[in-house]
Amino acid sequence: MRVRVRGAGIVGLAVAEELLRRGHRVEVVDPAPGSGASYAAAGMVSPVGELWHGEERLHALGRASARLWPAYAERLGVPLRSGTILTAADAGDLQQVERQVGLAVQQGDAATMLNRRELLRREPGLGRVTGGAWLPDDHSVDPRAVVAALLARVPVTPAPAAGPSGGPSGRPEVTVLATGSSLPSVRGERAVRGEILRLRVDAVDLPGHPVRALVQGRPVYLVPRAHGEVVVGATQEEHDAPPVVTAGGVWRLLDDARRVLPAIDRAVLVEATARDRPGTADNLPLVGPSGEPGVVLATGHFRHGVLLAPLTARLVADHLETGHVEPGLDPRRFATQHPGGSS
Ligand code: GLY
Repeated sequence: MRVRVRGAGIVGLAVAEELLRRGHRVEVVDPAPGSGASYAAAGMVSPVGELWHGEERLHALGRASARLWPAYAERLGVPLRSGTILTAADAGDLQQVERQVGLAVQQGDAATMLNRRELLRREPGLGRVTGGAWLPDDHSVDPRAVVAALLARVPVTPAPAAGPSGGPSGRPEVTVLATGSSLPSVRGERAVRGEILRLRVDAVDLPGHPVRALVQGRPVYLVPRAHGEVVVGATQEEHDAPPVVTAGGVWRLLDDARRVLPAIDRAVLVEATARDRPGTADNLPLVGPSGEPGVVLATGHFRHGVLLAPLTARLVADHLETGHVEPGLDPRRFATQHPGGSS
C-alpha cells in the first residue's frame, strides 16, 4: 500500500516504521519532526500508575502496549528502565494510593504497598512521604531517544512531494493523520497543556526509579534519565491559547517535586517546556477510519502517547491490511464532520 503519514511525533513515526517493516511504501510529512508532545514527554510506560476508576478500557490498552515495550525498546536500541515507585505525601494521598493499588490488583496487575521504611530502602532520597507502592511492570523510556531511533529508520520530508503523483511512488492510497493536538475539526478533541521541567542533579541525587507522587491531591512525577537529568511533570490544563510555560506552573511543579525529592533544591534547572496533549472527550485515542475515504486517524492519545505508540502502530497497520478497528477507538464515534485531512 502507498501510505502518507502526517505527523512525525512518536505515534506517527511508530506507525510509519511498522508499515515499512510490513513492506508498505510510506512517506512521512512533518515540518518539525519530534517537536510536539513527544518532545515534552517524560516517557512513562506506566499503565498502573495511570490507572483511574472508570478507565478500565484505557488501562487494558495500556497494559497490552506496555508488554510490547521491552522488545520494542530493544529493537530500537533504546534503554528501558523497569519498575516505578508510587508514593503519597500525606494521609489523604496515601488513601488514594491504596485505592489505586486495590484497583490495580483487581485488574490483575502487580502492585505492592510499601510503608515509609520500605520505600526509603528502595529510594533513599525520598523526602516527606507517608508510604506508597512498588509497580514492577511500569517502565520508563527517553522519548527523545525513541524519536531519534525511529527517525534513523523512517525518512521524513517537511512537505509532501509536489503534484498529484507525488509521494511514495504516486498518490497515496491512504493518509494517516498523526498530528497530535493539531488535528483539525474532529468532534471531541481537546488540547490539554502540560508544562514539564528538566533538572540536572548530581549522580548521588539521581533517583533509581521513576517516582510518581500525590502531594495533597496533586500528581507530580520525577523521571530519572541515565545522563543525570530528572524530568519533573506535569501540569494539566485545558485552554485555547498556544501552550506556554507559566511561572505558576513551574512553581507548583518545583514545590511538589522538592517535597518528594529534597535534592531537587540543589538541581540546575535546564529546561522548561510546554506542549499540548491531544485529548479526547472520553480519554480514549482515535485510531482507525476517520469517516473520510482514505483518511485514517492515529491520534487523541492524551497522556499516553509514549505508552501506546507500539500498540497504535500495530493497530493502524492491521486496520490498513484487514479493516479491523479496535473496539472503543473508532474515531467515527465522534464524527459529524470530516477531519479535513486532505492527502
Ligand atoms: N504522560 C504523562 C503526562 O502526560 O503528563
